[in-house]
Amino acid sequence: MTQDRVPQSHALLRGAQARDLPRCRRRRYNSGSSVLLRLVSHASGRRSLRAGITAHGLVRALVAFVLGAALAVAVPLTASAAPAPSDAPPVAATPPMGWNDWYSFFCNLDEQLIEQTADAMVSSGMRDAGYQYVNLDDCWLSHNRDANGNLQPDPVKFPHGIKAVADYVHARGLKLGIYEDVGTATCAGYPGSYGHVQQDADTFASWDIDFVKVDWCNVPFGNFPGLSQQDVAKKLYTEYSQALKATGRPMLLSICEWNPALQPWTWAPAISNMWRTNNDYGDSWDRILANLDNEADIAQYAGPGHWNDPDILQVGLGGMTPSEDQAHFSAWAMVAAPLLAGNDLRSMSPATKAILTNREVIAIDQDRLGAQATRISHDADADVWVRPLANGDRAVMLLNRSALPLTIDTTAQAAGLGNAPTYAVRDTWAHTTTESAGHLAASVPGHSAVLLRVTPQYDIGTVAPSTVVSATPDVAPVYPGSTYRIVRPGQTVDVPASFRNDDRIPVTDARLTLAGPDGWTVQGSTVRAPAVPGGHHLDGTWSVTVPSGTGPGVYTVTASAQYQWLHGSAANTGTGGFQVLVPPAGTQNVSDLSWLAATNGYGPPVLDKNYYGGPLTIHGVTYSKGIWLNANAALTYYTGGNCTRLTADLGLDDSDHGPGTVDYQVFADRAKVYDSGTVTRTTATVHLDQDVTGAQILQIVVTDAGDGVTYDNADIAAPQLTCGV
Ligand code: GLA
Repeated sequence: MTQDRVPQSHALLRGAQARDLPRCRRRRYNSGSSVLLRLVSHASGRRSLRAGITAHGLVRALVAFVLGAALAVAVPLTASAAPAPSDAPPVAATPPMGWNDWYSFFCNLDEQLIEQTADAMVSSGMRDAGYQYVNLDDCWLSHNRDANGNLQPDPVKFPHGIKAVADYVHARGLKLGIYEDVGTATCAGYPGSYGHVQQDADTFASWDIDFVKVDWCNVPFGNFPGLSQQDVAKKLYTEYSQALKATGRPMLLSICEWNPALQPWTWAPAISNMWRTNNDYGDSWDRILANLDNEADIAQYAGPGHWNDPDILQVGLGGMTPSEDQAHFSAWAMVAAPLLAGNDLRSMSPATKAILTNREVIAIDQDRLGAQATRISHDADADVWVRPLANGDRAVMLLNRSALPLTIDTTAQAAGLGNAPTYAVRDTWAHTTTESAGHLAASVPGHSAVLLRVTPQYDIGTVAPSTVVSATPDVAPVYPGSTYRIVRPGQTVDVPASFRNDDRIPVTDARLTLAGPDGWTVQGSTVRAPAVPGGHHLDGTWSVTVPSGTGPGVYTVTASAQYQWLHGSAANTGTGGFQVLVPPAGTQNVSDLSWLAATNGYGPPVLDKNYYGGPLTIHGVTYSKGIWLNANAALTYYTGGNCTRLTADLGLDDSDHGPGTVDYQVFADRAKVYDSGTVTRTTATVHLDQDVTGAQILQIVVTDAGDGVTYDNADIAAPQLTCGV
């Protein structure tokens, strides 16, 4: 019996994937996708500051006060609770750093790629920034072992053998990693180590390998009657660990058991240096967040020598914006993840290189205490993560999960730093240091993160004050309780903005103003205050008109503050977001509309064809327009009160013959207005015809009808919305 990594629920997909994809890319593992646009919200005080204050008098008083205060860093640093690994090779005192070919090259690797990558790791400055391992992934092998049962590399891809590549890499001060599998074959179908574990470990040692990634495909579970999958994993990976150890060569063991249900963090620390915490992921913001979310409850299992591995970095692969890449790198540093770049190092952009070589962020990842960050606050829009560092500092990540800007605000106390006279707040991306009395706050653009390193300190007034500037368009939810705040072209919106001084020392001659995107009308003038004492703020409200004809999208307004502090002038900005949308007009094919949000049980929703690329077909009737979904799925559209009727033909797609069962539902402003009841393969095509008059937000949902998602390939065929002009 072999194991296929496509979830059971998607068993139907295997045949087509095996036919359509190149051998090494047969498996698609997306467990879901979600594209969410969320609206900004933040709390900011609105107190206006008008009174004149003598800045230097206040400074003197405050300095006297804080110097009298005791520095009490009350919260002890807590290192990992996980036991030190007993069998692990003595490597990976800090999270491994390097490169892996898989996500850029899949099966297209060869010695030239590996050697050029080693050269690029040196010339790009990555080696000097801490990157060490150059790692081969799957497909380096020949399909057959030699006459003695030894692994042999593909002679075309590696004509000089792996030892020659190791020598090349070692000569550049780097290390070489290789890939195998505990099963009978690797995930791409090359010889696995099952039955050859010591022999393969010895081969790797003889080639001077430094790092061994061991995958979890084609495991012969049938050979282990009575053992659970987790038991089998423990047994096979323990044998691998012992075999590597028996070679006498220190080789890092990277366990690639990719099924989180087997909870490798509970058993892998004792036998390996790192273990995967997720199934394979992808180069998108929602996949990064999903892998990060899985780290929230397993921080205690990581520590020097043994690390949670949320998978190879996606930085520079091209699927995300630079700020998403930057946030991804920040997040991986916070959770003490191995930093294995996944991009083509030979041709990376300066922006990608700057992210991968940010030494301040790398220093957080590589902190010798090895304590993985924990999440101290979380909602749909924003996270705050905190990581204790060996020198007593704390790293604090303010993560904006949403598409619109957000002010995220926490405190040194909440970050576990206890009471100190003041805190030096280092922004590890802006490379600036400011001084805060306790607040750690920033205006964080959509899909990005601010990563701070915070140090308690006695000195006051040596660096510029920490300040935060916020702008919060005053847009009502589209219906009471909705998270959607949508603005239409032509609409005028009040935008309160605020500048807050988070230092103990006042700032003086403060000015705050607001600007919109090019062509937008902003009414209101600069507000001023002679001084803004610590903890106080300067507020104003502007009136912003979205030009008629503005296309759908996210737009930002920028509030800018300028002020003086003890040693000169300073400035700060903050942004607020507008989500501009126009409701559909006339009769529209729903598959032609942009959704506000989409979640799907397997990969993204497919438009105007089925998953396999053929036409949507229900009971032999084909449809040129429509949407293929896999339960559980939900599509959310903005109808803006302008539509009256939704029609569609509903049923399971003919491309699959399994016994799927789904239930179609329609929600108007969160109220369920339609329920198909259970639809099976034998149910006659359901003709949906629903009045949706007045709905601001329309949601089409496909549930699994309560029996699991297997074979639940649901078509929404010829869906049409009838709307006003
Ligand atoms: C699995 C692993 C990936 C990669 C591929 C190679 O999917 O999780 O990281 O190694 O196998 O086939």
